[in-house]
Amino acid sequence: MPVHLVTERLHMRPWAESDIDDLRALISERDDGTPTVEHVREIIAAQEAAMSTAGFTLLPIRRRVEGDFIGYCGLIVGRATVDEPEIAYELFRRVHGRGYATEAAGAVLGAAVETGRKRLWSTVGSWNTPSLRVLEKLGFARNHVSIDDRAGEVVWLTRLLP
Ligand SMILES: CC(C)(COP(=O)(O)OP(=O)(O)OC[C@H]1O[C@@H](n2cnc3c(N)ncnc32)[C@H](O)[C@@H]1OP(=O)(O)O)[C@@H](O)C(=O)NCCC(=O)NCCS
Repeated sequence: MPVHLVTERLHMRPWAESDIDDLRALISERDDGTPTVEHVREIIAAQEAAMSTAGFTLLPIRRRVEGDFIGYCGLIVGRATVDEPEIAYELFRRVHGRGYATEAAGAVLGAAVETGRKRLWSTVGSWNTPSLRVLEKLGFARNHVSIDDRAGEVVWLTRLLP
């Protein structure tokens, strides 16, 4: 997938060393404690490896005007496959509700089309109304529900690409 994506308010480009502390802070919002620099380096290295092997990755999102890191968005294998990957995103709480996830994910949909992929998936906890709404706005439709030992009830949504 293309790794430089620009939207009206956002831009996405490959991970850099300077993103490490921002990503540690983002992860610390959802997990107990802050991951080490080394652990986050491994997460980023895994994304770079995914780009080489699968041709897609997660990308850091920056606001174009403010220039700050607000989260990430991209494609992962997740519970799906290399041919029909999952779209994924996570943003800092302080920027939720401003349409940023929908805007970033819309650009990632376009990037997925450019790889020639024909279908995307997303698996979302059934409690996660904001994420389900983002996917609805992007034209994803509910396909089925599964039960995950760790995540509980998981909704599988899918979208055909042109
Ligand atoms: C999911 C997430 C990325 C959404 O980011 P965001 O930038 O706030 O999303 P957007 O602003 O583009 O859209 C959110 C939509 O959900 C709606 N929404 C948010 N909370 C809601 C609630 N409790 N009930 C109903 N709708 C809700 C918003 O109103 C908005 O819809 P609208 O445009 O029709 O008003 C963000 O909540 C997040 O980072 N969550 C933690 C990580 C996560 O859950 N990732 C997804 C894993 S599957």
